[in-house]
Amino acid sequence: MLIVGGSAANGIDDGVAAALGAKVVKIEKKNFPDGEFKIRINADVKGQDVVIVQSLYGPQEKHLLELLFIIDAAKGLGASKVIVVVPYLAYARQNRRFLEGEGISIDTVVKLLNSVGTDGFITVRPHTSEPLKGMTGKVKVVEPVKTFAEAVRKRCQRPLILSPDKGGSEFAVSVAKELGCPSASLDKERDYNTGEVLIKSIIDGSFRDWDVVIVDDVISGGGTIVASSKFSLGNGAKSVGTAAVHMLMAGDARQRIAASGVSWVVGSNTIPCKDIEVVDISPDIAAGIMELLK
Ligand code: R5P
Repeated sequence: MLIVGGSAANGIDDGVAAALGAKVVKIEKKNFPDGEFKIRINADVKGQDVVIVQSLYGPQEKHLLELLFIIDAAKGLGASKVIVVVPYLAYARQNRRFLEGEGISIDTVVKLLNSVGTDGFITVRPHTSEPLKGMTGKVKVVEPVKTFAEAVRKRCQRPLILSPDKGGSEFAVSVAKELGCPSASLDKERDYNTGEVLIKSIIDGSFRDWDVVIVDDVISGGGTIVASSKFSLGNGAKSVGTAAVHMLMAGDARQRIAASGVSWVVGSNTIPCKDIEVVDISPDIAAGIMELLK
């Protein structure tokens, strides 16, 4: 097996290679003056299982195109199987037509990955796994439950795991089970024209005197965490922390989250982020690769 790291692997290629005892090769990339680029896999991949690692954080389009080029090149060079690892899957949140006439972006991404010959696909806690049913090869979704439970355990004494919406409650409940602590979820509404987040009520549970930990798949503009934090503190939480897998942290998200009373934030290394504590999810991905190859 050979691990091939794209320019947006964020070190996960090295982590996975170390965990699996495999060799890692970085792609070579040449930029042209007009903005186009080409890639090269400078290694003999013929007849090998090739695992390509490329996250899809910004610039999403360049990273996606680069990934398609790498898969196509690996196939063209005679790789026997191409397994694609996308730690952060961009466009996963546009999984339906929220407003009439919109495109379903994640379906287009899946079609593009299929078109170049992806034999197996691995990603970490996407917004929803439903669109991945469109992948033609095998799919493995990595749920870093133990890794995040461990991160929470280190940071608070009496945790109550909170999902900000019904969609994310499965992951939050799994983390709570791992910790042996209670969980709750919120009834969240978003205005799809303005992006504004409104928390309507607690679906189950009470926050009084608990260290509330908001667990989510992704933090983007931060509106979800800000609204959930204010709601929790307003309903008696002793403290609020947050653990999210993908730290997009767009615009002034970080400052808004701190101002909303969140005392600690932890993420993962699916996306590079400065000044935020991250846990390495390479071992979880390595285990996912082994399962997919069974
Ligand atoms: C939405 O359902 C997701 O699970 C996240 O809660 C959301 O995308 C976070 O976005 P933002 O940080 O902009 O509120």
